[in-house]
Order: sequence, then C-alpha cells, then structure tokens
Amino acid sequence: MVWKIIWPLQACKLFLVILSLPQGRTSSVLTVNGNTENYVLDTPSGVQASLECAVQNHIREEELLWYREDGRVDLKTGNNINTSSVCVSSISEKDNGVRFTCKLQSNQTVSVSVMLNVTFPPLLSGNGFQTVEEDSDVRLVCNVKSNPQAQMTWYKNNSTLILEKDRHQIQETTESFQLSITKVKKSDNGTYTCMASSSLKTETMDFHLVVLDKVPVVPIEPIIAACVVVFLTLGFGLLARRKRIMKLCMKKKDRNSDTAL
Ligand SMILES: *[C@@H]1O[C@H](CO)[C@@H](O)[C@H](O)[C@H]1NC(C)=O
Ligand SMILES: *[C@@H]1O[C@H](CO)[C@@H](O)[C@H](O)[C@H]1NC(C)=O
Ligand SMILES: *[C@@H]1O[C@H](CO)[C@@H](O)[C@H](O)[C@H]1NC(C)=O
Ligand SMILES: *[C@@H]1O[C@H](CO)[C@@H](O)[C@H](O)[C@H]1NC(C)=O
Ligand SMILES: *[C@@H]1O[C@H](CO)[C@@H](O)[C@H](O)[C@H]1NC(C)=O
Ligand SMILES: *[C@@H]1O[C@H](CO)[C@@H](O)[C@H](O)[C@H]1NC(C)=O
Repeated sequence: MVWKIIWPLQACKLFLVILSLPQGRTSSVLTVNGNTENYVLDTPSGVQASLECAVQNHIREEELLWYREDGRVDLKTGNNINTSSVCVSSISEKDNGVRFTCKLQSNQTVSVSVMLNVTFPPLLSGNGFQTVEEDSDVRLVCNVKSNPQAQMTWYKNNSTLILEKDRHQIQETTESFQLSITKVKKSDNGTYTCMASSSLKTETMDFHLVVLDKVPVVPIEPIIAACVVVFLTLGFGLLARRKRIMKLCMKKKDRNSDTAL
C-alpha cells in the first residue's frame, strides 16, 4: 500500500531528471556568502567586508564576474573560476546603497546581488555663522547624513525652540533640516543648535545668528526729486528776473556813459 503511494512520486522525479539531461547540465546556481537570493548586508562604516561568490550545481568550470553597480570589478587571475571573492575595504558612508553583483559568465542572467546598508552616526554640516539685518528673512540649513535616519530638533540657547507660527518655519528632507525665520527681530539673535539623534549617536551643531540693527535706508529717489525741484525753481526764477537783471545792466551802462560824457 505504502509502496504504491511512493512509487509514482519516484517515477515522477526520475522522469524530471531524464527531461533535464538532454540540456547537458542542470542549471547552475550562484551563492554569495551562502545566499542564493539578492540580499542586504548591514555593516557599520570603517570596517571591511568580504564577499565570496561560488557556483553550485555545475559540471564544468565556470567563470564568474563581479560588478560594482554597472562597472566590472577587475579580478586577479584564478579568482574567477568556480569561486570568486571581493573585499570592500574601509567601507564609508559613501558606499551606502551600493550594489555588488556576482554573475555567471556563461549565462549572465544567473546572478546574486548584495546591497550594502552602511550604518553611521549623524554627520552635520552647514553655515555656522550668519548675520542678518532686523526685519529681513533668514534660513538656517543644517545638512544631515545619517543611517539609520536621525530624529532632528532645533534648540535655541540650550532650550527647545519655541516656534512662533507666523515667523518660524521648519522644513525637513532626508538630507537637511531647515529653520526659516521671517521678519527677524533683535530677540532672534543667539545660538541655534541643530540636534540629530539616531540609535547610534546624538550629534549637535551650533548656528550663530547675529541680528544687526536695521541700517536706515538713504532714500535716493526723494533726494533726486528734491534736487530737480530746487533746480527748476532756481532756473525759472532766473528766467523771470532776466529782464530786470538786463535792465539793471543797461542802466549801469547808461550811467557809465553819462559820467563819461
Ligand atoms: C571548477 O569546477 C569544475 C567542475 O566541478 C572542475 O572540473 C574544475 O576543476 C574546477 N576548477 C577549479 C579551478 O576549481
Ligand atoms: C540562463 O539561466 C536562466 C535561469 O537559470 C535560465 O532560465 C536560462 O534558460 C539560461 N539561459 C541559457 C542560455 O542557458
Ligand atoms: C539599514 O540598517 C538600518 C539599521 O539597522 C535599518 O534601520 C534600515 O532599515 C536598513 N535599511 C535597509 C534598506 O535595509
Ligand atoms: C549650553 O549648555 C552647555 C553645556 O550644558 C554650555 O556649555 C553652554 O554654555 C550653554 N550655552 C548657552 C548659550 O547657554
Ligand atoms: C539667549 O537668547 C537671548 C535672545 O533671545 C540672548 O539675549 C541671550 O544672550 C542668549 N543667551 C542666554 C544664555 O540666555
Ligand atoms: C548675538 O548672538 C551671538 C551668537 O550667539 C552672540 O555671540 C552675541 O553675543 C549675541 N548678541 C547679543 C546682543 O545678544
């Protein structure tokens, strides 16, 4: 009874093996560090990672290829037959998200990819010293890189910044944390601290904001207008008196001639 149930299964298996034989070989499989599927490698920055690719189920010598993203990795001779290792030395945050792929030279659709998930503490940068005139607008931009993503907060004078709805605005993207202040007041002067907290570390960066007195604007246009008015008034005044001035001159001449006579 039991035999009868098992027998058809074995017949099936045998049939499948026979079916695959005419193709010359069973399809080869690749593994990278033991993984047969694409996977994500979590790694801290600063360390090195070794990736070993191996071909399995093969009946002949197989050449292996390694790619970093779309670029071929140069492999030393011998390090590309049946097994192949690459070493990513001193992994940095720039390697985050980079994909390494091992491919079978004879059939490049057979491949296994590894994506690096490089974890690193928050890295902050920005313009730490800014001056702004009273009444104008200013934006403090705290650039942040962090994996895992950091929780961001603005502080002013060591206490949580109290946001004024109409004057303060906070914008957060994956790469920056920004504080915009409109119509800056003298009381906005001070040190603002950008704080980034991730599960790895808390980092801060100070942004010093100096609010300058509003420079009294010299009104150029009214001055020009006033000059024009004065000039025209003088001009018309001279024109109106020209006759009298000329008369005076002539009288003088007359008088002169009188005395000459
Ligand atoms: C690669 O594997 C094939 C098949 O197993 C074997 O014949 C060959 O010697 C191997 N070559 C090397 C360099 O390991
Ligand atoms: C390449 O490998 C894929 C996946 O194993 C397989 O489906 C395909 O038939 C192979 N192509 C050739 C030309 O061997
Ligand atoms: C990378 O690792 C971090 C920390 O372990 C994790 O939070 C994040 O989800 C991982 N990202 C990916 C794409 O796996
Ligand atoms: C903020 O606190 C730190 C340490 O707690 C101190 O050194 C610094 O002077 C303080 N800054 C201000 C503006 O209060
Ligand atoms: C805090 O900010 C105010 C302006 O709001 C400034 O006058 C003062 O010097 C800053 N420092 C401390 C320790 O309060
Ligand atoms: C304005 O802020 C700067 C930077 O924090 C600080 O050095 C300066 O003393 C402050 N000036 C006044 C008048 O509060």
